[in-house]
Parts: sequence; structure tokens; C-alpha cells
Amino acid sequence: MSVDCIPIFFLLFLISFCKADDQLTHEKPLTHGDMFISKSGYFALGFFSPTSSNKTFYLGVWYHGLPGPRTVVWVANRDNPITTPSSAVLTVTTSSDLVLAASDGHSIWKTASSINAGAVRAHAVLLDSGNFVLRLPNATDIWQSFDHPTDTILPTMKFLFSYKAEVVGRLVAWKSSDDPSSGGFSYSSDPSSPDLQIATWNKTSPYCRMGVWNGVPVSGETLLTNASTILYYQTTINSGDELYSMFTISNNLPFTRVILDYTGDLKVLSWNSHSSSWALFGERPAAACDLYASCGPFSYCDFTQIVPMCECLDGFEPNDDNFGRGCRRIAALKCDKQSHFVALPGMKVPDNFLHIRNKSFEQCKAMCNHNCSCTAFAYANLSSAGAMSDPSRCLVWSGELIDVAKATAGENLYV
Ligand SMILES: *[C@@H]1O[C@H](CO)[C@@H](O)[C@H](O)[C@H]1NC(C)=O
Ligand SMILES: *[C@@H]1O[C@H](CO)[C@@H](O)[C@H](O)[C@H]1NC(C)=O
Ligand SMILES: *[C@@H]1O[C@H](CO)[C@@H](O)[C@H](O)[C@H]1NC(C)=O
Ligand SMILES: *[C@@H]1O[C@H](CO)[C@@H](O)[C@H](O)[C@H]1NC(C)=O
Ligand SMILES: *[C@@H]1O[C@H](CO)[C@@H](O)[C@H](O)[C@H]1NC(C)=O
Ligand SMILES: *[C@@H]1O[C@H](CO)[C@@H](O)[C@H](O)[C@H]1NC(C)=O
Ligand SMILES: *[C@@H]1O[C@H](CO)[C@@H](O)[C@H](O)[C@H]1NC(C)=O
Repeated sequence: MSVDCIPIFFLLFLISFCKADDQLTHEKPLTHGDMFISKSGYFALGFFSPTSSNKTFYLGVWYHGLPGPRTVVWVANRDNPITTPSSAVLTVTTSSDLVLAASDGHSIWKTASSINAGAVRAHAVLLDSGNFVLRLPNATDIWQSFDHPTDTILPTMKFLFSYKAEVVGRLVAWKSSDDPSSGGFSYSSDPSSPDLQIATWNKTSPYCRMGVWNGVPVSGETLLTNASTILYYQTTINSGDELYSMFTISNNLPFTRVILDYTGDLKVLSWNSHSSSWALFGERPAAACDLYASCGPFSYCDFTQIVPMCECLDGFEPNDDNFGRGCRRIAALKCDKQSHFVALPGMKVPDNFLHIRNKSFEQCKAMCNHNCSCTAFAYANLSSAGAMSDPSRCLVWSGELIDVAKATAGENLYV
């Protein structure tokens, strides 16, 4: 199978020639050395070895035609490498599934597409978005790699964090820079509140908590590359049953990606064609005090300062010079009906909250006011909750407040 389009005199012929090259059919399997190129040449799918020793091979998708080291965005068989590449074959089966098999016929990786297509047979296509799909002749997609991400989120990919309060989508970092097998870092919603908060994880411990869903669905950001100005536009939607996010780029090109790298950093990178390298536009953790709970209790990471640092919440003073031990109350908390709340604006609210359903703001405040062990509350209207019967989000905390931050995009925390 040819990799590049051969320049032939007739344009129409050239187009149809290229088109055939981004499709895999039952009659035309993919073998080692073959490669598919997406229509506009943005992505390639094929077999690769991440190490120079060429001992292990993977089926994957990477950016095609960028100079420098190969940038892989998806790996099919990350925990089951191919050791004898010459024998590996990727086939569309008669039952419209994809199977990656070794020479002895044993399957290394396969899809389980949900539809029984009957007599019609799917073909596989690598799209210009980087999505590898199994498509029926009537243009219905029965499986897509975008539903099974590795460590990368690409523009237009719907990343489903949770469905009916179950964790669904998860990025799992590579084990090392040249080992795509599943590493210890992941990015997903929090199993203890899957519809409300998202974090990166070091195995099962929180590593960097992104924040709590407060109903604000969009965030736009301008990324200034010195080649051009592009707008990175992220939408997060909680439709009641689903919490998902998606980002798009104003130039509609796929050369911006979100990756959870093997060191645990979640990064937004965009290709800079002048410097021929990936430019970093943002990362989490974004500072030392952005690491989970690193400021200690009753302290917050202040992102409004040039160099983010730990500060005590209002009414608290440092335990000692080391902020890792957090802060303590200046005056003991009086437990009576007169206790007042201080509204702290722009906060990433603490972890370990209790989500109380179906409350108004006043009811939420009263819940906290009437309970001596309550240390804070926060309230949001989840206006985009749609069909969900309860659009209120009343959170209350008792005891220590940990992993708090102050940033421009935060919400009111009542302490
Ligand atoms: C591994 O494969 C690459 C590309 O095909 C080749 O340049 C390199 O020499 C190979 N390395 C070894 C040790 O065979
Ligand atoms: C496409 O074909 C499949 C299998 O024949 C069928 O189940 C599906 O409903 C069709 N979809 C559309 C939109 O026609
Ligand atoms: C991740 O957790 C392990 C313990 O499971 C710890 O040894 C390691 O330092 C942690 N990594 C980072 C980057 O914090
Ligand atoms: C873009 O930035 C790089 C590194 O900062 C610099 O080397 C290069 O000259 C810049 N290109 C343009 C066109 O400004
Ligand atoms: C919410 O509370 C109101 C009254 O406070 C009650 O009438 C309603 O049934 C509750 N809804 C749910 C879903 O619990
Ligand atoms: C007070 O809050 C604690 C922790 O949130 C909870 O366990 C307890 O039931 C609450 N008490 C009352 C009377 O609401
Ligand atoms: C929630 O919605 C109610 C009614 O629409 C409004 O009065 C209140 O200010 C809102 N609260 C917040 C925290 O947005």
C-alpha cells in the first residue's frame, strides 16, 4: 500500500487514489510496513516501535508529516505489544469488527462493536480529526477510537467523564517516554463524586484536582503562537446523566492536543511551525502548590499572585512557617445562631464535601449554620442540568478544608 499520493496528471484520479488509502476493508488488511494517511494528510495509522531497539511494536495513530520525533496520539494494543511485527495483521472481520492478530491467528487486540450489521460489512477509516472509525455503508459509525482514548484528547473529541454517576472516560499516561503501556497516572472524574469533580491521579491518590463542576459550561482561551493567534474553546457539559467536555480550535486544525504525560502533567500543547516544536499553553499542576492538598488544611494556593503560593483562609493564621501543615483558626469558632459566613470569591472549593440534593441557597446556608461541625458551604445553580430533576448544588464541609485555591475562574466559598 502506498504511503504518499503519487502525483498523477489527472486531479480526479489523484483524489480517488488518495481516498482509497485511508480505508481498511475486509479484502484489504493492514500489515507491518503499511500505513493509512487521513484525507488531508494530518494523521497516519500504522505499526510503530517507540524504542530504537525495535523489540516491541504497537498499532497506533500519530501526526503525519511533522518533523522531529513521532507524536503518537492513540495506541490500540498498549498493554499487549507485538513482538514479531512481520506477522501482525489488522483486519475487518466478516462480523464488522477490527482484529489485530499475530501469525498464529491469536488476537492481540480487537473491537467489540455493538451493532450486528448483518450482511452489510463495515470498513475502517482514519479521519482528519485523528479519529479511527468503523463505518457502515450507510455512514453509521459503529466503533471509534475517540471513545477509547489512550493519553491524548484531540479537538472535537467528546470526552465522556461520567454517565449515570459512573466514571467512564479515563486518560492513562504512558509508563515512560518510550513505553506506551499503562502508567501510574490517570485523568478522570472522581469515583466518589463522578458527576461533580475531575482530577489527575497517581494510582488511586488524587494528584491534582481540577475543581468542582459549578454549572459554568464554557471557557475560552486565546493561545498566542508566534505563528498565528488561535482560540482554544473548551465546553464542559453536565446534562444530568452525562458529564463531558470537548474543545475546539478556531482554525479547525488538529494540531492542538491535551495530553497526560508520563510524569503526571496534564498539558495543552500546540504545534508551532516556526520553531517546529510543540509549544506549551497550559498545564496542571500549574505550580508547586497546585499539587493535591499541598498547602495543608485551611490554606489555599493563591493563583492571583505572580508566583502562586500558599495563603491562609480569612480568619486563619499559619500553624508554623511551613505551609504544608496549613493554618489554624485565630479565634475559636463559636457555635451559635449568630455565626456569620465570610464569602471568599474566586475559589476552587475544597475536597471532601457532602453534596446535599434539592436545596435553595438559603436552605443550604441554614444547613451549615445549624450544624456546629459545618465549616463551609458553597452553592451553585446547575442551569444546564436539563432533564435532571435537581439543578441545585449545595456542598457542605465539616472539619478541615483541604486543596483550596484562589483563581479568577472560581466561585464563592462561604467559610
Ligand atoms: C529500528 O527501526 C528503525 C526504523 O525502521 C531503524 O532506523 C533502526 O535502525 C532499527 N533499529 C534496530 C536496532 O534495528
Ligand atoms: C445503517 O445500517 C445498520 C445495519 O444495517 C442499521 O442497523 C442502521 O439502523 C442503519 N442506520 C441508518 C441511519 O440508516
Ligand atoms: C506517586 O505515588 C508513589 C507512591 O505510590 C510515590 O512514590 C511517587 O513519588 C508519586 N509520584 C509523584 C510524582 O508524586
Ligand atoms: C517564534 O519563537 C521562537 C522561539 O521563541 C523564535 O525562535 C522564532 O524566531 C519566533 N518566530 C517568529 C516568526 O517570530
Ligand atoms: C425538592 O424539594 C421540594 C420541596 O422542598 C419537593 O416538593 C420536591 O419533591 C423535591 N424534589 C426532589 C427531586 O426531591
Ligand atoms: C452535621 O454535619 C455532619 C457532617 O456534615 C453530619 O454528619 C451531621 O449529621 C450533621 N448534623 C445535623 C444535625 O444536621
Ligand atoms: C440561583 O438561581 C436563583 C433563581 O434563579 C437566583 O436567585 C440565585 O441568585 C442563583 N444563585 C447563584 C449562586 O447563582
